[in-house]
Amino acid sequence: MAVLPIRTIGDQVLVRRARDVAEVDGRLDQLIRDMIETMHEAPGVGLAAPQVGVDLRLFVWDVGDGPDVAINPTIVESSGRWRYEEGCLSVPGYFWPIERPRRVLLRYVTRDGEVAEREAEDLLGRVFLHETDHLDGVLLIERLDDEERREAKQRISRERWLGA
Ligand code: NI
Repeated sequence: MAVLPIRTIGDQVLVRRARDVAEVDGRLDQLIRDMIETMHEAPGVGLAAPQVGVDLRLFVWDVGDGPDVAINPTIVESSGRWRYEEGCLSVPGYFWPIERPRRVLLRYVTRDGEVAEREAEDLLGRVFLHETDHLDGVLLIERLDDEERREAKQRISRERWLGA
């Protein structure tokens, strides 16, 4: 097991669409274990493979009831709206109120290679949406409205440049 370095905003791996996982094998299992350890160490409630520099469509999560993984996930349904103060391990130290659907249905491949579906709402639903976005190269600031996003980008580039 290993804690992997987490890529941060500005890294191109975070803004590319990741590739489908072709095979669930022992190497993938090692990556999953390392990602879970990295997420727990951070600490965070979700972590997508591009955040550790791996161009594959999978993410791990743990909202308090144990870690799990979704391989080649898709959001097949979503409903409701809610705002929540959201952060990201790849944009450390920043939080914004972000509006997303409240309920989602996620379809994915499990660690054992089986197709599964999972309904989730509130925090877990939000994690599914946030991490699926990462696999499409979308960071949380892209979910802000135009003015908020402009301000967020200015603030991040100014503070990173100043070393704050
Ligand atoms: Ni994130």
